[in-house]
Amino acid sequence: MSEIGLAVSRLAEAGVESPRADAEQLAAHRHNVPRSRLPLVADADFDPRFWDDVARREAREPLQHITGVAYFRYLDLLVGPGVFVPRPETEVMSGWAIERLSEMDVAEPVVADLGSGSGAIALAIAQEVPRARVHAVEGDPLARPWTERNIARCAAAAPHTSGRVTLHAGDFESALADLNGAVDLVVSNPPYIPVTAELPPEVAEYEPTAALFSGSDGLDAIRVVERSARRLLRPGGRVAVEHGSPQGVAVYWVFAEENGWQQTRNHTDLAGLDRFVTAIWP
Ligand SMILES: C[S@@+](CC[C@H](N)C(=O)[O-])C[C@H]1O[C@@H](n2cnc3c(N)ncnc32)[C@H](O)[C@@H]1O
Repeated sequence: MSEIGLAVSRLAEAGVESPRADAEQLAAHRHNVPRSRLPLVADADFDPRFWDDVARREAREPLQHITGVAYFRYLDLLVGPGVFVPRPETEVMSGWAIERLSEMDVAEPVVADLGSGSGAIALAIAQEVPRARVHAVEGDPLARPWTERNIARCAAAAPHTSGRVTLHAGDFESALADLNGAVDLVVSNPPYIPVTAELPPEVAEYEPTAALFSGSDGLDAIRVVERSARRLLRPGGRVAVEHGSPQGVAVYWVFAEENGWQQTRNHTDLAGLDRFVTAIWP
């Protein structure tokens, strides 16, 4: 069996959800080649450290902790212990925010990213909407060094983002008080997992608790985002909040007309599952 084939069967045996993709990404990372060029690395030339990486993945450490990188839209972000690994489903909500900001008739739209983690959403917006000014709020002191590193890394790779993303330490319930009523778009991927949920080891053992759980129905932080968006948005401003796929109806009602919101909409992710809600503050 080839080196990759052997790694795939070990990862499959360990219960890894996508064993071939993970084995190939580990090998590509270890040999510093794009995944498409892996066939050019002969089995005899395989770096023995690849098997250390496979053993870590077998123990269900997240792939991105082993490689140290997570890809998000046009960014590669540094990740590791202490920070949430950004997910592909959040790319869709970020794309929605980028489109709305791009068509906004505002010289320098002001954005608040509540619960910024690695900075994925904030930095994607700064990269793709160069005139935006993004305020990234993060409450977890273990996550913030990662946000800072990624802001600096992005400024080096894409100088137009330099000085356009500001990290604020603190709780999003009270953050950015000097921007009350002045924000054009609030975007958030808050914690939304019910505390009783069972999770795979990659999440339960490695992701920060503050990024995951939010009360018995998983909606506590989303309710805080709703209150914060009400406080922060200027008239006509927009909000987008991510949620778990079974929570679409419940989150719709958090942003209901009765609470003052207009044009509340459910949106799906690439798998067709309910994934985020948007609304306009009148
Ligand atoms: C699910 S992670 C999302 C991180 C990043 N936005 C992303 O999409 O990859 C949620 C983040 O919100 C932060 N957070 C949770 N509750 C918070 C609060 N009340 N105030 C500030 N940050 C909070 C967590 O520490 C975590 O970094």
